[in-house]
Amino acid sequence: MGNESSTVVDDSTPPSVLEARTLEGVATYIKERSVQRVVVMVGAGISTSAGIPDFRSPDTGIYSNLAHLDLTDPEDVFDISFFRENPRPFYALARELAPGQFRPTIAHSFIKLLYDKGLLMKHFSQNIDCLERLAGLPGDMIVEAHGSFATQHCIDCKAEYPEDRMKAAIAKGEVPYCLKCPGLVKPDIVFFGEALPADFFENRDLPGQADLCIVMGTSLTVQPFASLPGLVGEGVPRVLINMERVGGLGSRPDDVVVLGDCDTGVRKLARALGWGQDLEELWESTKPEEVQEQGPPRTREEKLQDEVDRLTEEVDRTLGISTAYEQRVRQHLDRQATDKAKAAGETEGVGGLGHVFPHLARASEER
Ligand code: OAD
Repeated sequence: MGNESSTVVDDSTPPSVLEARTLEGVATYIKERSVQRVVVMVGAGISTSAGIPDFRSPDTGIYSNLAHLDLTDPEDVFDISFFRENPRPFYALARELAPGQFRPTIAHSFIKLLYDKGLLMKHFSQNIDCLERLAGLPGDMIVEAHGSFATQHCIDCKAEYPEDRMKAAIAKGEVPYCLKCPGLVKPDIVFFGEALPADFFENRDLPGQADLCIVMGTSLTVQPFASLPGLVGEGVPRVLINMERVGGLGSRPDDVVVLGDCDTGVRKLARALGWGQDLEELWESTKPEEVQEQGPPRTREEKLQDEVDRLTEEVDRTLGISTAYEQRVRQHLDRQATDKAKAAGETEGVGGLGHVFPHLARASEER
C-alpha cells in the first residue's frame, strides 16, 4: 500500500452515453440500460456521518489529530516498520477505531439497496469499520481491500491470536504479544508497507466488466486501491460523490461529479430512481434494538408529522446545513474549547481525540 496525488480534471465535455452528467442522468441510464453490474468504491468519508472521522480531512481527520502521539509523520501510525519499533501509537488509536459502537450511514444502506435490487457486482471498501456488513451486505459482495479488525495474527510467526484477548487488549489500549513467540500481534488491517489481501487482486478485473461505477467518500490517495476507477471501461459512466474532487474523476465524458456529502448524494440518486422510500426504510432497519422507538403504534397524524420533520431535515440538508457539516463545526468548536482548557492547565480525559470521537468525550464527561 502506498500514496499518490490526484490529477487535474475537466468535466465540461458533453456526455456520450448519459443524457446528462447529473444524478438524474445516471438514474435514467440505470433504468433504460437495465444496468446490473455496478461496482462501488468507498473510503472513510462514507462513515463520517456515523461519527467515525476520516483520515485526511483538515481539522477533523485522524491524521491532523495525532499530535498527542508524538509522531514525525501521522501515517506512521499505520506503517508496518514503525509498528515493529513502536506499536503503542497504533494501540492508542485502535480503541477508538474498533468496530462495535457505530450505526451504518444511509450511504451504507444505499449500497445494500443496490444489492437488494440485483444491481451490485462488487463493493470495494478501504474501510476497517465493518459498517457495510452491519448494513446487511453479504461478506462475499465486499472486498475489504485494507483488511479489517475481524481477525488478528502475530506479525512474526503468523499464529492466530484469540479474539477475546484482542478485544480486551484494544479496550485497555494495551499491546498484545503472541502466545507462541515474542512477536507482536496486529489486527489484520493492511498497513503501509504490507500487501493487500488476495481477494483484492482476485477481483481487480471486475471494474473492467462493470456497466456503472460509483465512488464515494475517498481521497483516492492510497495505492493500489486508487487505481480501481481507472480500470473501469471507457464509455462506462463513473459517479463521484465526495466533498472534494479526487483521482481525476470528471475527466471522462460520462463522469458525473457530485460535490457534497454522500448521504445527501445517495438520497438524491435513490429518489431519481424511485427508490427513496425503500432507502429510508432500509436505513431505518439498521437502528440498533435499544434505540428502536417504543410505545403504542403511531397514528396517521404522528406519522405525517414524522414525515414533515424528515422533509424539513431534507430541506436543511439541501440548503447545505448537513449533519456532517454541523458535526464538523461542533468538533471544531469542541477542539477550540479543549485547546483553551489545556492552555488553562486542565487535563483532557480521552487521549486528545475527544473532539474527533464524540462518544469518547461523552463517556469521559460521564465518569
Ligand atoms: P481519506 O481521509 O483520505 O479521504 C476521505 C475523503 O472523503 C475525503 O476526500 C473527504 O473530503 C471525503 N469526505 C469526508 N466526509 C465525507 C462525507 N460525509 N461525504 C462525502 N465525502 C466525505 O480516507 P480514505 O480515502 O478512506 O488506511 O483513506 C484511504 C486509506 O488511507 C485508509 O484506508 C487508511 C488511510 O491510511 C488504513 O487504515 C490502513
